[in-house]
Amino acid sequence: MFKLSVRNLTKAYPNDDSGETQVLDHISFEVSKGEFLGIVGPSGCGKTTLLKIIAGLLEPDEGQILIDGQEVEAGHNRVGYIFQQESLFPWRTVRQNIEFGLEVKGVPEKERREKSEEIIKIVGMEGLEKNYPHEISGGQARKTEMARSLVVSPDILVADEAFSNLDAQTRNYLQEEFLRIQDLTGSTIAFVSHNVDEAVFMSDRILVLSNLPARIIAEYKVEIPRPRIRTSQECLSYRSKILDILSIEQQKAMKRSFKPKQSVST
Ligand SMILES: Nc1ncnc2c1ncn2[C@@H]1O[C@H](COP(=O)(O)OP(=O)(O)O)[C@@H](O)[C@H]1O
Ligand SMILES: [Mg+2]
Repeated sequence: MFKLSVRNLTKAYPNDDSGETQVLDHISFEVSKGEFLGIVGPSGCGKTTLLKIIAGLLEPDEGQILIDGQEVEAGHNRVGYIFQQESLFPWRTVRQNIEFGLEVKGVPEKERREKSEEIIKIVGMEGLEKNYPHEISGGQARKTEMARSLVVSPDILVADEAFSNLDAQTRNYLQEEFLRIQDLTGSTIAFVSHNVDEAVFMSDRILVLSNLPARIIAEYKVEIPRPRIRTSQECLSYRSKILDILSIEQQKAMKRSFKPKQSVST
């Protein structure tokens, strides 16, 4: 049975012309337990909308989300979400941030402490528990957010361009850290990225989305043994295949937005 099944999702938003803009166009896919699924697509194509629907933060117009084969409704709370922008509470320490979800669930203090200790070790944040978000680096903040999501044992973790605001070195380090933490926790992850290299380095499988409205236009099982070497021929070959598809999508979008002037006969 699949950990996550996304079935036939469609979504439209109201637009400025009192009409609707279709954002998701019958999206269906599955994610297996423990799988790392990468999702890439052009900017503004509907990636965040898709993740919000999976996480139960937004209702689709049509379609279903199934977790372990059971349909879930919006507001289900079974998916951890790592947002594009840093989202730690500035008035809480690292440990208090990590324990937030447990507090909301009413977990007693002793158990909260045990669980947060364990996840703090896993993500490698020992010694920083009492620091406030402004006292840790951007990379450490991302690890704290990952810990905050994982400590409540979500069925699935979704991440929305989680490393896009970081420098290249920190990004590479965090990619390796996320994979290490996923390995230790057995988490199932759907990871949206506009960075194709990142998707190839991390993913077991990659979905490529079209321009708005998003459809799945390609799917690759990334059959490269781990640990992967970013600059290997295998990685570069997946990269160029995906970039080719995205560049064709971009050309289509440019053609649509370019209105040729009336030709003048001479
Ligand atoms: N709440 C909203 N209301 C209206 N339009 C929205 C809303 N959220 C996103 N959009 C539009 O829907 C499209 C897809 O947005 P989004 O899912 O954020 O794309 P991505 O994450 O791929 O950049 C964009 O054109 C965006 O402007
Ligand atoms: Mg987005």
